[in-house]
Amino acid sequence: MTSHDLESVALTLVAEGKGILAADETIPTLTRRFDTLGVQSTEQSRRTYREMLFTSPGAAEFISGAIMYDETIRQKSSDGTPLAEALAVQGILPGIKVDTGAKPLAGSPNETVTEGLDGLRDRLREYHAMGARFAKWRAVIHLTDALPSSACVNANAHALARYASLCQEQELVPIVEPEVLMDGSHTIERCEGVTGTVLHAVFNALFEQGVALEGMLLKPNMVLAGKECARQASVEEVATATLRCLRRHVPAAVPGVVFLSGGQNARVATAHLNAINRLPGPKPWKLSFSYGRALQDPALEAWHGRDENLAAGQNALYRRARSNGAASIGKYTDEMELESVSADDASHRREWSDD
Ligand code: 13P
Repeated sequence: MTSHDLESVALTLVAEGKGILAADETIPTLTRRFDTLGVQSTEQSRRTYREMLFTSPGAAEFISGAIMYDETIRQKSSDGTPLAEALAVQGILPGIKVDTGAKPLAGSPNETVTEGLDGLRDRLREYHAMGARFAKWRAVIHLTDALPSSACVNANAHALARYASLCQEQELVPIVEPEVLMDGSHTIERCEGVTGTVLHAVFNALFEQGVALEGMLLKPNMVLAGKECARQASVEEVATATLRCLRRHVPAAVPGVVFLSGGQNARVATAHLNAINRLPGPKPWKLSFSYGRALQDPALEAWHGRDENLAAGQNALYRRARSNGAASIGKYTDEMELESVSADDASHRREWSDD
């Protein structure tokens, strides 16, 4: 694979009207989500859930890639097809989470640094042989009056860049995810400042490690007021601050920016993406989604661990994928949430025609 091939995979992941399904929760995280609904977490129930998501009829029209966890990429669907292959036959690129988690940062116990570099080259080689074509590594930045420290920002930026460089060596497109958390009472202005500082450090480290920007994607947080901040920003304010921050800190050579949802309500995350794409002015990268909770939550709720609800779960995922696909080209409307839709109903395409 050449750097040209990496670029073409990156461009495929941000093809017009499409984004990424993040379904790479670790076993403890998915178990916590299942627990809230009283669904038992077993290897079998997690497999059933992921297969439900990955084979949702029609969703491939809006989903370019799906990020898996190590357990999932080794699992087979009910008809014996490896789940990575079940994605690939629908034209969905298989992806894999490769970090081993955010661990307390020595010397600053309220902050974390993401681990997983040791042995990463061999793991990437194995995942590529299993069909993965892109990877994900998430750095977590806590925001308070005093944090993040520059030690935390720089340690995470360095690890992200080392990971990205190894991915490209092993022919996988790296998704570089520095997440500034929305927990806390900070203002949107403070989030914008810290997100800018973090992006600046990340692109500096990527440059230092020789990462080809054309063959990667950035997965940032949107610029938001903290969840506990008394003044929540409007959709327009979020869109304006987010785009301004990206313009200042993300080189134009990066083909795409795929936002994480970070705990936003599913419809709000869609409205924010749509508003960002509707803003005037230069946007040198595709702006799309790589949502976990904002795509999955309605599907998980509809399924509730019951076989008789599998079709309802798939329909819920389809609806979110369709709305976010529209938002990725600035053509999402509230009315889309009210229509009854199915994969066979092509009418949703009509309302995307130029306005
Ligand atoms: P959320 O969209 O739920 O934040 O998940 C995205 C993700 O992949 C986090 O690493």
